[in-house]
Amino acid sequence: MDFSDILIKRRAINFFDPTRNVSETLLKDLLEEAVKAPSSFNLQPWKVKIVRDPEQKAALRALAFDQPKVTEASVVIMVLADRDGWKEGNETLEKHFAKNMQPEQRDWFISTTNTLYGNSEAASQAFANKNAGLFAMSFMYTASNHGLHTHPMDGFDHEAVRKEFAIPDNYWIPMLIAVGHLNPGTDIHPKAWRQSADEMILE
Ligand SMILES: Cc1cc2nc3c(=O)[nH]c(=O)nc-3n(C[C@H](O)[C@H](O)[C@H](O)COP(=O)(O)O)c2cc1C
Repeated sequence: MDFSDILIKRRAINFFDPTRNVSETLLKDLLEEAVKAPSSFNLQPWKVKIVRDPEQKAALRALAFDQPKVTEASVVIMVLADRDGWKEGNETLEKHFAKNMQPEQRDWFISTTNTLYGNSEAASQAFANKNAGLFAMSFMYTASNHGLHTHPMDGFDHEAVRKEFAIPDNYWIPMLIAVGHLNPGTDIHPKAWRQSADEMILE
């Protein structure tokens, strides 16, 4: 699909076909395409928890204001933003270092990420969420490109979800993303109002 079409046609849809599956293989392909998203220093401070099992989806729905799409979509991706993703010893950071960086770059790198993201809890939180948000967007456009539909959600009880799914403390959950096929017969309405360029530009 043309990228402009993806931008225009992607909608956060409410009506998923509960009978149609998104296979594990396709989901992994989507994740591996979406991971091309940019991130601060290429640190990729995100993980995903995949919720596919009907009982788990029901438990998640109960903690997400009973939103039907949580159980109707084939799968729900829990986006996990790693607030420790800038710290020395972090698994993803160390893999990036081992694959892409020279040993002499390490001291500079660690001191810079500490200065930028380690000064306050707010800085670590912002670091994690901005990068995971970019990944999430990349994932949704990738899914659209494969003819799938998505719905991002932050309407859920964050701490209760974290507890229910045993998500470690270093992760914030910026959003859940329902992924699946559109329920046949559902009309997709045009997009709601968006700001014009002039409205967006702060003088
Ligand atoms: C971070 C985020 C959280 C959202 N949370 C919810 C939600 O919990 N429930 C819901 O029905 N829609 C949710 N939405 C969907 C928005 O309402 C929707 O994206 C917006 O109205 C624009 O519509 P569109 O995505 O179809 O263009 C969320 C969107 C984003 C980006």
